[in-house]
Amino acid sequence: MQSRAFPLKLRVSNQQKGEYAMIDVTHVYKYFREETALQDLDVHVGKGEIYGFLGPSGSGKTTTIHLLTGQMKPDIGSVTVMGKTGDQLKQPDFLQRIGVMTEATGLYQRLSVMDNLKLAADLYGVKAPEKRINELLALTGLTEASRKRADKLSKGMMQRVLLIRALLHEPELLFLDEPTAALDPASTKKIHEALLEQKENGVTIFLTTHDMEEAEALCDRVAFLHHGSIQKSGVPKELRREHADGSISVELQDGRRYRLIQDEKHADRLAGWMKTGSIAAIQTNVPTLGDIFIEVTGRELV
Ligand SMILES: Nc1ncnc2c1ncn2[C@@H]1O[C@H](COP(=O)(O)OP(=O)(O)O)[C@@H](O)[C@H]1O
Ligand SMILES: [Mg+2]
Repeated sequence: MQSRAFPLKLRVSNQQKGEYAMIDVTHVYKYFREETALQDLDVHVGKGEIYGFLGPSGSGKTTTIHLLTGQMKPDIGSVTVMGKTGDQLKQPDFLQRIGVMTEATGLYQRLSVMDNLKLAADLYGVKAPEKRINELLALTGLTEASRKRADKLSKGMMQRVLLIRALLHEPELLFLDEPTAALDPASTKKIHEALLEQKENGVTIFLTTHDMEEAEALCDRVAFLHHGSIQKSGVPKELRREHADGSISVELQDGRRYRLIQDEKHADRLAGWMKTGSIAAIQTNVPTLGDIFIEVTGRELV
């Protein structure tokens, strides 16, 4: 048994070194007439990662997904996805390996959820489609809604149907364009659970969002996009630590609040309150991803 475990371990460490790159975007520029939609974009995503592209409306998120899924080509630079580039990104053998969830719904409004999914499964040549569809309906909490007509679905249900459609053919790489935009918390939670389950199975996920909490909950790495260029990228936890100022907020029993920096004078003050049992609440001030986005770009994420 031990000799079998060895190559598996090796593979994991190779993946960590990025030898199994899923997405390689290098120095990419994309123009729409005079407008620069993307400039000098560099994105590298390894196998099994959830990578979050964070940016406000108009920052270039959807354009990036279009480039990565073969729907557009860059004007300058290179886009390689699972080793494929250029027209290879339009070929069926590539499309079979990716799942895409974007705003454009493309569901047949008069057909039921089940019939819509059966059609999509047929298109992808999914084996044992009903079994697969039922699994995914259960995973996303939609089993009860499978007979509902597409035009009778709530927005949250619709988004989950679109996610199921993107997952039907068991893609290795998922592209999700704002998968939970304007969704209720319950639907958002279902979608997050489904995505984390995909990650468990080794699926790589590239998602865009302007929801910083979503990014913190899901993403291994994030990039902040502003006016088509990446202003900052990294691991959420590390970014937050890097941008923390080390200050501490204290609320006293009498309701007074203080912000302390970590030095001798403030330590004495804190010790004094502790000795008299005056402290009601205390916390270190670590910025959210949203705070960091504002700091780095000078604007809000919404
Ligand atoms: N097909 C297109 N034709 C012309 N301009 C476009 C097109 N697609 C996007 N743009 C422009 O490129 C910029 C980035 O858009 P987009 O990628 O849709 O941003 P996001 O998805 O972050 O909201 C915007 O200024 C948008 O107007
Ligand atoms: Mg968009």
